[in-house]
Parts: sequence; C-alpha cells; structure tokens
Amino acid sequence: MNGASSCCCCSARSDLRESAERKRSEAPSRGAPSLRTHTDSGSALPESLSTFPATMSGEDAPPQQQKPEEQSKQEAKSSEEPKAAEPKQQQEPKAEPQAETPAAAEATGAEKPSAAAATASEEEVQFTYRALVLSGYGGYDKVKLQVKKGKPALKAGDVLVRVKACGLNFADLLGRQGLYDRLPSPPVTPGMECSGVVEAVGEEVTDRKVGDKVLVICRNGLWQEVVAVPTDHTFLMPEGMSFEEAAALLINYITAYMILFDFGNLRPNQSVLIHMAAGGVGIAATQLCKTVKDVTVFGTASASKHEVISQGGVTHPIDYRTRDYVEEIRKISPKGLDIVLDPLGGSDTNKGFNLLKPMGKLITYGAANVLTGPKKNLFAVAKSWYNHFSVNVQSLMNSNKAVCGFHLGYLDGEFELVAQVANKVLELYGQGKIKPRVDSTWHFEQVGDAMRRMQERNNVGKVILLPEPKKEEEKKEEPKKEEEKKEEKKDKKEEKKEEKKKEEPKKEEN
Ligand SMILES: NC(=O)c1ccc[n+]([C@@H]2O[C@H](COP(=O)([O-])OP(=O)(O)OC[C@H]3O[C@@H](n4cnc5c(N)ncnc54)[C@H](OP(=O)(O)O)[C@@H]3O)[C@@H](O)[C@H]2O)c1
Repeated sequence: MNGASSCCCCSARSDLRESAERKRSEAPSRGAPSLRTHTDSGSALPESLSTFPATMSGEDAPPQQQKPEEQSKQEAKSSEEPKAAEPKQQQEPKAEPQAETPAAAEATGAEKPSAAAATASEEEVQFTYRALVLSGYGGYDKVKLQVKKGKPALKAGDVLVRVKACGLNFADLLGRQGLYDRLPSPPVTPGMECSGVVEAVGEEVTDRKVGDKVLVICRNGLWQEVVAVPTDHTFLMPEGMSFEEAAALLINYITAYMILFDFGNLRPNQSVLIHMAAGGVGIAATQLCKTVKDVTVFGTASASKHEVISQGGVTHPIDYRTRDYVEEIRKISPKGLDIVLDPLGGSDTNKGFNLLKPMGKLITYGAANVLTGPKKNLFAVAKSWYNHFSVNVQSLMNSNKAVCGFHLGYLDGEFELVAQVANKVLELYGQGKIKPRVDSTWHFEQVGDAMRRMQERNNVGKVILLPEPKKEEEKKEEPKKEEEKKEEKKDKKEEKKEEKKKEEPKKEEN
C-alpha cells in the first residue's frame, strides 16, 4: 500500500507543481464573491479551510485603525504565547476618533466617511463595541481585543445582530498564521459563525424581526459584539437551542452533511473513516453517520478522547498518535472502506485513497497537517505540499474510486445550496438526531487560550468565544482555582514523598 502511494507521488511531483499553478489561476479571485460580509473588509460568505496560502507574508501587518487602550495593553505583552488573558472589562473607548464604521469601511475604504456615516445619528457615531482583530500573521497574541466605534450601518436586506456566542474553527488557527486564503489580509476581524439576537432590521427585510434569535454564517467578521449581516445569512434558532450550541452548528454540520451525504452518498451498512473524530466536524460527522442504519465508523483521535467518541457513535476509535491507523483499519476491515473523510492532507490523503474499497469515495476537505505549532511552520507546509495527493483520471477509472474536494469557503455563489443544507441540519436538530457538543467557552479576552486549546489538541467538540466581558466574580474565582490546583499538586507531591519514604525501609530490609 505504501509502495503504491509513493509511486503515485513520484510520478505526480511535477504534475503537482503544474496542478498547484492551475489551482491558483482557477481559484476565484479574492474579494469578488457574490455574497458580501457584513463588516470590515468587503467580500462575503461562509468559509472554511484552504489547502495552501495565497498570502504567505504579512507577519506584521499595519495595526488596525482602532486603537483603544485594550490594544496598547496587549501590544505591550509581546510574548508569543501569552498566559491566560486577563479579563478586560475596562473597554472604555478613547475619545479620539478611532474606527471607521465597519460597513462604511466596506463601502468606501477606511479614509472616506460613507453616506451611511454622514447620515448616522450622533448616538450611532458614538456607539462602541468590542471586537477581536487579527493584527498580523503569527502566534496567539496576534488576535487582539479592540473597541470599534460607530454602529455597523444597515444596508437594505441587512439585520443588526447582538452577538451572544461565536464559533472557533480550525480555519481560524490557519488564518492567524496566514495559511487560510479565504480570510482577507490583516487587520481584519475573523469569525465565520455566531449566534445572537436581532436588534434592528434594514429596509426590505421581511423574514426577521427585532428579538429573533438567529444563527449567522459569513465569510469573516463575526467575532464582535454587534454585526450587520445580510438576512439570508441568518437562520432562526430552534426552540431549546442555546446560543453556544447555535454558534457550534453551522460550519461543522453543513460541512459534515455535504461531505457525507452530497459527495459521500452514505448508505446503510457502509463504513466511514473520520479523522479528527473528536473535533467539531468529527463529532458532527459521527452523529450524522448515526442517522443512517448500520454504518461502521472508524475514528482517529487522541487516546484520552476515545471514551467520549465511542459513546458518540464511533465504532472503532484509533489512537493515531501511537498506532498506524492504516494497519488498524486493515486488521478490522481487510477489504477497506466505503468512505474516507480527509481533513489532514499531505500523505494522509494518499493513505485514505489506498484504504478505499472499489466504488469507495475519498472526500478531502482540509490540510490540518500544515499546522504544527502556534507559528507558521514552513517545513510542514512544504512537506504537506510535497506529499500532496495527485491522481490521473486513467488510474482513477481503473481503480473504481472517486476523489472529491470540498471547501465551504469557495461555495460563494451557491448560498442557496448552503442554506438548504443549513435548514436540513436544523431540522435534524429539531428531531433530536444531532446535538453540537460544546467543548468549552472563552471570553473574547481569552481568545489566545481558546486557540491554544484547539491547537494543542485538547478540545472534544466545539470551542466557543463569548463577546461579553468576563464577570468580576469569575475573575475572583480564577486565582482561587489556581491556588486550589497548586494545593492539589503540593498534596500529591507530599503523598508521593511519603510513599517513597515508606518503601525505602522495606528495600533496606530486603
Ligand atoms: N473544507 C471545509 O469547508 C471545512 C469546513 C470546516 C472544517 N474543515 C476542516 O475540518 C477539520 C476539522 O476542523 P474543526 O474546526 O472541526 O477542528 P477540530 O477537529 O475541532 O480541531 C482540533 C482537533 O483536531 C485534531 N488535530 C489533528 N491534527 C491536528 C493538528 N495538526 N493541529 C491541531 N489539532 C489537530 C486534534 O484532536 P485529536 O488529537 O484528537 O486528533 C484537535 O483537538 C480541519 O482540517 C478543518 O480545516 C474544513
């Protein structure tokens, strides 16, 4: 099997360069999607992950125009991996003019005030809100909490949403390192999904009203307290859904649904390999597999997460960190698999292809292998590129296999299709067939820790960001918890010492 894959690579390497060039030239040009984002930077749409960066530079992009005290404080902390962010409640905006209204910036560029701004009331102009801003490419400290000024302007067809919770996606980690080409260059507010309450509706909006609880999907810009978004990028939250669940649903479940059912055509009695099975998409895909009769799920995840994913529906959890997952799968299913979902890229795509039975399907939808630490690792990027899977149509035909590529971020012109899937997923939620698993919630000021949790492979399910500042009580609780932890450690150490002491005389006796 390995021989087959390396052979494929050798013949494919020069093709690879060509195909990479081709891909680049075929890729939709940046900033020209048919749907727009609500705020900062122009273009719009749901997004996810890209395989290779369009922008590899920009480590220190110019700082955002908004410069509240929060930013200067964070800039002072220049360490690459900041410690747990202190809750910042003192987000008082400075008196001097700071930010363009985001919508105005979108329409006219940062310098000129837009017509909307010109007609905005004094209250709207003075309006401030907390937002996370990617200030340049790099480590965790590149995402800064800022205060933006000026209420996002509502265009016809827009709604203003007070954001309650936001989803953190793997693509956000890649974006921070300049490895996600659907995120505009910094300074930019990331965030592809959120949930919240409609606070105002623009002209021509008939399907939403003030007070509606909604899920929102956009290309970027949702990691802020208020957002103005096209109404067709919002979906009504079903009864009983929490804001955290709502922020965990759209990207993961739309992706999992489309790769499993639209491309994978999953049917009863089939077998599926789900990598990153304990992550957001992984858990979504497992739950969706369970909606089909007698599907066998192989799931790779770190060992500590196996109990949870088994309970969630993974038939055969595999610890890819200590085992060769290909061997493990072959032991159980010598003929191979019907569907392989590949979010890893690099040599894993090859392995996935080789694991397919005849008539099997490989759906590739990510390149997680390029991410090895908080900062961009060019070696990992090059390695992944070098091992990139390539296949010619003749061998594809002869092997009776299918290879599909999925990228939600490039379904720009197909928002109706995406919305249809979103509605199906919401229906499944209503029927109790799926339920997002929230791993943890973090306030905006803790975004670095939230990202670290995902990047260090500690999450089981979705990591959520909360725009609201951390409460005073929580701040007080934290040092207490730290103390308790220290005490616990101390106790354990002492226990061990005692045990050793007890054992020593025994040894001497022997
Ligand atoms: N194409 C699309 O439209 C689309 C949309 C959404 C997501 N995606 C892709 O789907 C994959 C999962 O995304 P997600 O948002 O649900 O993230 P996630 O799975 O929650 O990501 C974190 C988990 O992935 C595993 N992992 C494997 N390789 C990793 C690496 N190099 N660095 C850090 N963690 C790694 C770790 O769990 P274990 O140690 O347990 O494996 C970690 O806890 C990603 O590749 C993402 O880019 C694609």
